[in-house]
Amino acid sequence: MGALPLDNSHLPLSAFIDPAGHNRFEVEALLHQTVALLVEEMTRASARSLLPDPMGAQQLSQWAQQWAKIPEQSVAADVLLDVVRSQLHHSMNAAHPGYIGHMDSIPTTMSIIADLLVAALNNNMLSVEMSPVFSRLEPLVMQQLAAHFGLDLADRDVMAGGVMVSGGSLANLQALTVARNMAFDALATGIVKLSQQPVFFVSEVAHTSMQKAAMVMGLGAQAAIALRTNTNAQVDIHDLKVKLSQAEQSGQKPFAIVATAGTTVTGSIDPLAEMADVAQANNLWFHVDAAYGGALIFSPAHRHLLAGIDRADSVTFNPQKWLYITKTCATLLFKNVDVLQRHFRISAPYMGDDSQWSNLGELTLQGTRHPDILKLWLSLQHLGQAGYADIITHNIALTAQFTEAVRSRPYLQLASEPQTNLVCFRLAPKQIAAEAWDHLNEQLQQYLLAAKSPVFLSLPTYRHQRWLKAVLLNPYSCTTTIEHLFEQLDAFVQEHVS
Ligand SMILES: Cc1ncc(COP(=O)(O)O)c(C=O)c1O
Repeated sequence: MGALPLDNSHLPLSAFIDPAGHNRFEVEALLHQTVALLVEEMTRASARSLLPDPMGAQQLSQWAQQWAKIPEQSVAADVLLDVVRSQLHHSMNAAHPGYIGHMDSIPTTMSIIADLLVAALNNNMLSVEMSPVFSRLEPLVMQQLAAHFGLDLADRDVMAGGVMVSGGSLANLQALTVARNMAFDALATGIVKLSQQPVFFVSEVAHTSMQKAAMVMGLGAQAAIALRTNTNAQVDIHDLKVKLSQAEQSGQKPFAIVATAGTTVTGSIDPLAEMADVAQANNLWFHVDAAYGGALIFSPAHRHLLAGIDRADSVTFNPQKWLYITKTCATLLFKNVDVLQRHFRISAPYMGDDSQWSNLGELTLQGTRHPDILKLWLSLQHLGQAGYADIITHNIALTAQFTEAVRSRPYLQLASEPQTNLVCFRLAPKQIAAEAWDHLNEQLQQYLLAAKSPVFLSLPTYRHQRWLKAVLLNPYSCTTTIEHLFEQLDAFVQEHVS
């Protein structure tokens, strides 16, 4: 082997990419094989199953047991690639146009390419010194995104912007922590000495990361006060006002109101402007969890659905969902990004200083962080706003077709009026007792998965019942995907509902 300056008798030739290029041909060959495997898998994704069947799952468990063992000696790269190849087809196949059960979809080509490049460079978003390119790019792209949400319009004295984090849960936690630190001046001294219990308000159907945030912040999960929702799963403003005044009367100290733009089960959007009014009138932080629905901002035809989001103090937005960026890719945006400096920043003396650019690890919970900005930036450049707008228009048109198909069948029921590209519905035939509907819908889910044109719908619990959820996200899903689904659904009804 080339120039590794150590006793390398146990090391494979391609263990690292030699920085002087001595093993260039071996590494290139391996990467070519890998790319060939990737292309082969992904260009046949619509012929692969959506999820492993019971036999496949059992085989997968055995395989995992066998291969979990850490070997004493190196295993050849060719062998490893073959082993991986033999099991990849058991992966969740989100690229399949019939995979419409979750907020997961096919990733942009640019985000796959960026992940590969970023892995090779192995930079670290902890500091400017450790990621000179990406630490400059991230704040500038975050500024642009914040401006897209209208966060920069209200007051030109403050600078809108944000940070990237590993997922929406971390974004929500950080937003609420900033809000709490600001309300109680708690960055240095915390909240243990407070005589009043800090609380915030959030929809009863909001993502569970809200309760997690309350728990991690030392407030207890109950500090996330659940607001009643209407039949469309949107926060009831009257209930917000009542609970706010009850909290104050009982000696609690409200510090934030949280709205959701795109709830996890029904894709619903809370009344953002009205909630902003209440937050403003009561001098409370207004956070919008737009992890999912935030992408609508890229569609001139649909961005009105987010009216009022420009009044948020902070916004969670996950490009890993409706912008098709590989996981993880999430952002936390602020109307005034300077709050991070004053109410969150813990400086790290072991990192170099740059007066113009922040060490981002001082401004986020994570220290070491993957440079997710490259895949987001490359995808935005490659697809453009107009490309994203086309996809969103297609998704919303399919949702309308889907919703119409549900409405035209008396034995189906909608959980709520679809506002985005999620349809939550269930089989609720009058001939069968309501207690049996949960089981019937589980059977229907399996039936559709095993059908000639398979479709995967997820089976969330919503208002204590099982429902079927469709997320019309995949750009390759089309009207025939939906037509086939409903033909198969009708066949199931013929067989199981007399
Ligand atoms: C509305 C909403 N907020 C937050 C999250 C949490 O995001 P993550 O899973 O990236 O932590 C989700 C995840 O689905 C979500 O739907």
